[in-house]
This record gives sequence, C-alpha cells and structure tokens, in this order.
Amino acid sequence: MSNRGVFISLEGIEGCGKSTQAKILSDYMSELGYCVVQTREPGGTPVAEKIREVLLDPKNQDLTSRTELLLYLASRSQHVEQLIMPALKKGKIVICERFSDSTRAYQGYARGLDMDMIETLIRIATGNLEPDLTIILDMEVKEGLLRAERFKNYKDRLESENLDFHNKVRRGYLEIAKNNPNRIKVISAKGSIDDIHLRIRQYIDELLSNYKDKPN
Ligand SMILES: Nc1ncnc2c1ncn2[C@@H]1O[C@H](COP(=O)(O)OP(=O)(O)OP(=O)(O)O)[C@@H](O)[C@H]1O
Ligand SMILES: [Mg+2]
Repeated sequence: MSNRGVFISLEGIEGCGKSTQAKILSDYMSELGYCVVQTREPGGTPVAEKIREVLLDPKNQDLTSRTELLLYLASRSQHVEQLIMPALKKGKIVICERFSDSTRAYQGYARGLDMDMIETLIRIATGNLEPDLTIILDMEVKEGLLRAERFKNYKDRLESENLDFHNKVRRGYLEIAKNNPNRIKVISAKGSIDDIHLRIRQYIDELLSNYKDKPN
C-alpha cells in the first residue's frame, strides 16, 4: 500500500447507519492525522449526483432493472475516475457509503440480474478497483427501515420496495461477505452509535497498522 491511499466502503440495508458511521469514522481518522475524503454512492460528484436523483426518485417506477444497473454503474464510473482514484493516488483515505457490493446485493441478489453480467460491468465501471476494507452493518430489515423512516416523511424509490426485497438484499450481503472473508467484515448494526463505531474501529486500527505513510 506504499504509494496508495486506503479505500474503505460501508455497506448495509437502508437505515442501518452507514451515513452516521461514515461521518464518525471520517472524524476519527482525520483526528489521527490522515487526509480523509468522505463520499457516497450513488453520487459523490456533480454528474453522479444527478444520476442519483434519477435513481432515487419515487416517480421513476418504470425504470427497468437493467437500466437501473447501468445507471448505478455510470454513476460509479464517474465517481471512480473523477474523485476516488485521484484521491487514492494522492495517498488519501477514501470512506465511501456503498460501492460495488451494493450492486451485487441489490441488482444481483434482490433483482435477480445475472451475476456474471454484473461482475463484468462492475469491472468496466471501476477499472477493477475494489475497497481495501468493506464493513457491512447488519441488522433486521424491519428495524433498519424504521430507522430510515423515523426522521423523514417520504420514502425514496428503493425504500418503497417490499420487505421481501430488502430481506433478499440483506441475505445477499451476508453471502457476498462469506465469499470475501478477507476484504469484508460483518458487524452488528444494533446498539448505540458509539458501540457500533467501536466495533468498526477495531478493523480500522488493524488496517492502519499496515499503512505506514501518514500523508499529512
Ligand atoms: N445505532 C443507532 N441507533 C439508533 N438510531 C440510529 C443508529 N445509527 C443511526 N441511527 C439513526 O437512524 C437513521 C438512519 O441512519 P443513517 O442515515 O446513518 O443510515 P443509512 O444506512 O445511511 O441509511 P440510508 O440507507 O437511508 O442512507 C438516522 O436517523 C440515524 O440518526
Ligand atoms: Mg445514508
């Protein structure tokens, strides 16, 4: 990892706490002296944020599964090239809410699109970039959706999917984790915000012990 930064993704179902934990983790790593870029998918750059609006707009009920997949990957392609890779080349830490495992879980396991096609398209969109560490925040679907709903009075296009869909997403994540035990760590997203941060921090500290260069 000598000439490159560190790429961390946070994954999990709607409302599991990705945004909350991404912010706390960014603050923690910044305080340690690392140069941190916090970002999210879909989105992260102006063009990718426009694609995000199309993807999450509940009015777009007629979006086909394949179009949805291609839009997510178009957004990722822009994000990787314009923001993530340049930051990693400068030795920065990139913390990203959602990345390719979301595509695998939602478009593959939940929508049922062909996994080989998905993997091929992911490679095209990312230029083979995968996170160094992925944290999956795992919790009961019902609880996650309740958390996501509590503080807003609308549901986006994906939150409006039924429980069965979100359960497939959750099971998909757990399967992906089982297939990638070195890169992906599953932690319980239940408990207090601080407790969950400490669970994440354990893996971060381990990762940082292998990352010698403090860029700033
Ligand atoms: N450990 C926790 N206990 C209780 N509430 C929490 C916890 N973590 C986050 N929340 C709250 O739950 C809601 C959802 O959290 P957050 O937005 O971080 O989830 P998310 O995974 O980013 O959701 P989304 O998939 O919708 O982006 C927020 O209102 C947040 O304040
Ligand atoms: Mg969020």
